[in-house]
Amino acid sequence: MGSACSAALAPAPQHEPLPGLGSSLPAFPDPLHADPQLQRFLDAAVAQLCQWWSGSGQRSPLPLLSVLPELAPPIEGQPPQALLADLQLVMDGAFNPSHPGALAHLDPPPLAAAVAAELVAAGLNNNLLAEELSPSLTRLERGLCAWMATALGLGDQAGGVAASGGSLSNLMALVVARHRAGLAGDASAVVLCSADAHVSLGKALMVMGLPASALWPLPVDAAGALSIPALEQALERAHAEGRPVLAVVATAGTTVRGAVDLIAPLAALCRPRGIWLHVDGAIGAVFALSEAHRQRVPDLGLADSLTVNPQKLLGIPKSSSLLLLRDPGLLARCFATGLPYMEPSWADAHGGECGLQGTRPAEVLKLWLGLRQLGRSGIDAVLEGAITRRQRLQHLLEPLPLSLQGGPLHLLPFCPEGLDASGADRWSTSTRQRLLEQQLMLSRPLYAGRHHLKAVLGNPHTGEAELQRLRSVVEASLP
Ligand SMILES: Cc1ncc(COP(=O)(O)O)c(C=O)c1O
Repeated sequence: MGSACSAALAPAPQHEPLPGLGSSLPAFPDPLHADPQLQRFLDAAVAQLCQWWSGSGQRSPLPLLSVLPELAPPIEGQPPQALLADLQLVMDGAFNPSHPGALAHLDPPPLAAAVAAELVAAGLNNNLLAEELSPSLTRLERGLCAWMATALGLGDQAGGVAASGGSLSNLMALVVARHRAGLAGDASAVVLCSADAHVSLGKALMVMGLPASALWPLPVDAAGALSIPALEQALERAHAEGRPVLAVVATAGTTVRGAVDLIAPLAALCRPRGIWLHVDGAIGAVFALSEAHRQRVPDLGLADSLTVNPQKLLGIPKSSSLLLLRDPGLLARCFATGLPYMEPSWADAHGGECGLQGTRPAEVLKLWLGLRQLGRSGIDAVLEGAITRRQRLQHLLEPLPLSLQGGPLHLLPFCPEGLDASGADRWSTSTRQRLLEQQLMLSRPLYAGRHHLKAVLGNPHTGEAELQRLRSVVEASLP
């Protein structure tokens, strides 16, 4: 990869008309007539995508060369075949999540029905800003958020809103927490989380106008979970220093280890003090959808707010994140500024008044259709598959002199025992390269001062052959 992946601009190609595609494309769909030319174009684009998928096992997870087509719009619009050829160039240079060796990040292959929903959502071009711009989709979003929140244990009155990514969900949660605590404008407020919490929390505080020192990252225990005694001490310290605590953020699935903070004792510390408990379940919350795996992320229902990212494991195309609250009415109470150019909401509040985004895509459509395609048993199977692969890889690596840092989820970071920081840097760089040569892509996170290699086992195409190859390369890499 990486080093091998280079970019170039392609020379303008000459395009022969493809049979049936025609030489021009209507700019906008005809509102009165079916348009066979438009349909053929969409069919051809879908066929091209299906071909890209079906060839993904023959290409590497990362392309060796990324060639970009012409960037600026030409004077005259391009014919359909030229558009598809340009599209193909970008597709050829894309990361390939369907390759069985794509194990680096939380970016699995996309679910088929969700891809169709994404195409339809673009075609509908509705706007989740306001109900008159998305009547059915607004109700779908509200209903699905309520279903998800209840399914994850937040109670019968729970609900939420879709946001474009977990960083945004976390930011909105903290803004709601601050609003509810009446701490807007108080620069002395602090947010407590573990040292392994996601970097988006620091970004959120920056956007909220709080200094970086407002984030108190606390030590983790041996399992990578926020240390409860450390939190107790931090709460006492904040109290002694007269610093109001805006929120405690627990993580259900940390980014490197997949560790899960102990929500029940955290809630027991927050509740009596009236402190907001946000759970960043961007990675792990989906496990609570399965009876068989719920115990991996216990007590999510004790959160005041919860981030869940179905894009990270369930295959909903990006972006797909929800911010869920036990009291979803707080969203509009916090964010609504009025939409004087819109008819009033038919329900509680317009979607664009329930968060930071105004105009919003219909991200809910792909989530809803994707989950309908999977069904409860399909969701179980995706989660089960990910856990089984992590357990199998762990089993294969355990005999080697490695420090394995995985938690209860589907992430497995590891590093040879006894290496110092520069040794770990060299080992992880060269081993990642050896793995890439074997069509296996792992990531190389810096954790506790040392680079590790991390396998994310969320790819349903990964099989025994890939896991065995991984073990062989890692074994050969050890001194
Ligand atoms: C635990 C956790 N929270 C939040 C995020 C941010 O999510 P996003 O990348 O969708 O903004 C991530 C991203 O990896 C994450 O691992």
